[in-house]
Amino acid sequence: MKKIESLRFPVLVVWLLHFTAPCIGQDESVGAPMKIAEQEALYDTIQDFVGKWWNGSDLYPDPCGWTPIQGVSCDLYDGFWYVTDLSIGPVHDNSLTCGQDVDFSPNLFALRHLKSLSFFNCFVTPRRRPVSIPASNWEFFAGSLESLEFRLNSGLTGTVPEIFGGLRNLQSLVITENGLMGKLPESIGNLVELRRLNLAGNSFTGRVPGSIGGLNRLLILDVSGNLLSGTLPVTLGGLTALLKLDLNGNQLEGEIPKEIRNLKNLSLLDLSDNRFSGGLGETIQGLNSLQELVLSNNPIGGDIMSIGWQNLRCITALELSNMSLTGGIPESLANLKSLRFLGLNDNKLTGDIPSKIATSPNVTSIYLHGNNLTGKLNFSEAFYGRMGRRFGAWGNPGLCYQQPEEFETASHAPFGVKPCGLQVIKYGAGLRDPAWTMPSSGLDVFGVSRLALVVEALLVLALQHF
Ligand SMILES: *[C@@H]1O[C@H](CO)[C@@H](O)[C@H](O)[C@H]1NC(C)=O
Ligand SMILES: *[C@@H]1O[C@H](CO)[C@@H](O)[C@H](O)[C@H]1NC(C)=O
Ligand SMILES: *[C@@H]1O[C@H](CO)[C@@H](O)[C@H](O)[C@H]1NC(C)=O
Ligand SMILES: *[C@@H]1O[C@H](CO)[C@@H](O)[C@H](O)[C@H]1NC(C)=O
Ligand SMILES: *[C@@H]1O[C@H](CO)[C@@H](O)[C@H](O)[C@H]1NC(C)=O
Ligand SMILES: *[C@@H]1O[C@H](CO)[C@@H](O)[C@H](O)[C@H]1NC(C)=O
Repeated sequence: MKKIESLRFPVLVVWLLHFTAPCIGQDESVGAPMKIAEQEALYDTIQDFVGKWWNGSDLYPDPCGWTPIQGVSCDLYDGFWYVTDLSIGPVHDNSLTCGQDVDFSPNLFALRHLKSLSFFNCFVTPRRRPVSIPASNWEFFAGSLESLEFRLNSGLTGTVPEIFGGLRNLQSLVITENGLMGKLPESIGNLVELRRLNLAGNSFTGRVPGSIGGLNRLLILDVSGNLLSGTLPVTLGGLTALLKLDLNGNQLEGEIPKEIRNLKNLSLLDLSDNRFSGGLGETIQGLNSLQELVLSNNPIGGDIMSIGWQNLRCITALELSNMSLTGGIPESLANLKSLRFLGLNDNKLTGDIPSKIATSPNVTSIYLHGNNLTGKLNFSEAFYGRMGRRFGAWGNPGLCYQQPEEFETASHAPFGVKPCGLQVIKYGAGLRDPAWTMPSSGLDVFGVSRLALVVEALLVLALQHF
């Protein structure tokens, strides 16, 4: 009995604090009610996604007040609480996590004040039956929904419903890494408030809808990692606010529309791993805000010397490998003061490597391997030492490097390049120096290391013959 008495006091204090707090705060919103229908709709919706065991009225009797639910936010309208944000999926430790084989809950559409709705890692494989995004009822969210997100739901299949085009207040639509497929609806072009459209990592087919070009507030367009094909619509030139355009890893073909040069604020353009052709033309010349240009693995072709590279004043990464580029290495690249990464490997470049490119102040990687470059490399040993294997010049049969003065030992040599003349063999530590560690920057050629080892072994063999 004594024990119980002593326990009761702290419990009482906690209880008192709970119920007196609103009076102290004088915050009118705390005592505001929630309509039964809204509360029931919230409980039913969550229960449908999480599982029958989840008992909202028991666990969270006041979901917009003193028993908040992780992933649920509310707002006041005309003196009543309504649910404005619903986020389902294991984002935090105590997040609402989907049960196995759950379906898409129709109760959701009763929450008419939703501004933000997100499903993360909710519909996963394996499943007993496929689940897709419902094709109707979204009109109930037309006036309210600003952000809609389906991320990492491998078990979510089917298409993007045409009716999404009616969500006229949507500012962010993120549908990434799900199992969605089919064509993208033209109605996407009606979402004129969109700032972000991210459809990466699904299996979408067909063309990039021309209507997208009307989204003139769009800042981010990412449809990378799908199966989109055909040519790009010229309407993309209408995305004048765009900062990031990522179409990498599709089957897009034809010329890059010259209208792209209207995207004056673009800072990232990634068209890599497609089938674009027809040269670079003047398309990229006007993109003065570009920081990252990634066009590798396309049969684009054309002469690299014909581009006014000096105009890309902000460029930090220029990844133009495996594009069937011809011509020599433009000296003007040395004037790009912010350049950190230069990838021109696996093209058809010819001629000398201008020593001037080493003067670019911030450059940490220069990949020129796999071309037909010739002549003598004449960089300082300090440069070879600093760059290590991030200076890639191997695989150019006509290229050799100028060794230091006679009787001096080369402590740093460009990896995989033979010394000019081959007369003095002082191949010491140079090859094994700091360059062993592959660079960790995002844009690097990882597969190269194995190849490079083979090249090195051959080189050592060849040298032993002299
Ligand atoms: C939830 O809990 C309440 C109160 O404990 C109870 O009355 C109700 O029957 C439960 N509902 C379900 C669906 O289990
Ligand atoms: C481009 O960016 C500038 C500076 O951030 C901004 O003032 C301008 O409105 C942007 N242009 C467009 C078309 O959005
Ligand atoms: C080079 O690009 C072509 C397409 O132009 C592609 O088929 C090939 O796989 C690419 N090579 C590498 C090593 O990525
Ligand atoms: C070189 O890099 C440094 C550090 O990242 C940066 O502060 C500086 O602005 C860069 N220089 C140029 C010319 O971009
Ligand atoms: C490389 O260029 C030389 C001429 O400079 C030419 O004879 C040779 O065929 C070229 N090799 C390749 C693989 O294009
Ligand atoms: C290599 O460069 C040095 C200065 O950096 C210069 O003195 C020398 O003449 C050059 N050698 C050749 C063969 O170009």
